[in-house]
Amino acid sequence: MAKAAFLASGNGSNFQAICEAMENTSHQPVVLIYDRKNAKVPERARELEVASRYVPYAGRSREKAEETILEILDFFNPDLIVLAGFMRILTEKVISRYEGRIINIHPSLLPAYPGTRGIEESYLSDDKELGITIHLVDEGLDSGTILKQVSFRREGTETLSEIEERIHTLEHTWYPRVVLELLDQIETEATGR
Ligand code: GRF
Repeated sequence: MAKAAFLASGNGSNFQAICEAMENTSHQPVVLIYDRKNAKVPERARELEVASRYVPYAGRSREKAEETILEILDFFNPDLIVLAGFMRILTEKVISRYEGRIINIHPSLLPAYPGTRGIEESYLSDDKELGITIHLVDEGLDSGTILKQVSFRREGTETLSEIEERIHTLEHTWYPRVVLELLDQIETEATGR
């Protein structure tokens, strides 16, 4: 059994897709940490019976918020930390504590279009290939080692919402696969099989 913790800020569709994919495995989603009060993601956690903790950043430094995050993570002791629409950049303190065990998904073919407008910027570009990137997290903006990229060729006649839907469908297919693969690997290493 390997344990995953999640950090998210908003809708939580990737969080849900991953938790559902974990249902028939030996792995466990142990906690969701979210930083926005009005996020939909804690509702999903309730339905999925995953523990959740609200950690606001507003009104205090990023370092202070991260101290709380680290306390929660240390308590749940996850093997892997999965960022799923988490709209904050983590500092070296968190990254180094969980070195090589924090992953993120981004809705563009990195290094193109990092940041919060990955889909729109991809859509508005002349690029023929669009897609998603799953990567290790470092202290930069969507800049860690790439683990997986999946792309598709666009016709050029699609609307922005059609492209968004296509990208989200790819995310919901591939993020659970990569997370489960990593958890399987962690479990195998731990049991020495
Ligand atoms: C996804 O598009 C992901 O690539 C990006 O944030 C979005 C999160 O969506 N990092 P959701 O909250 O999982 O529905």
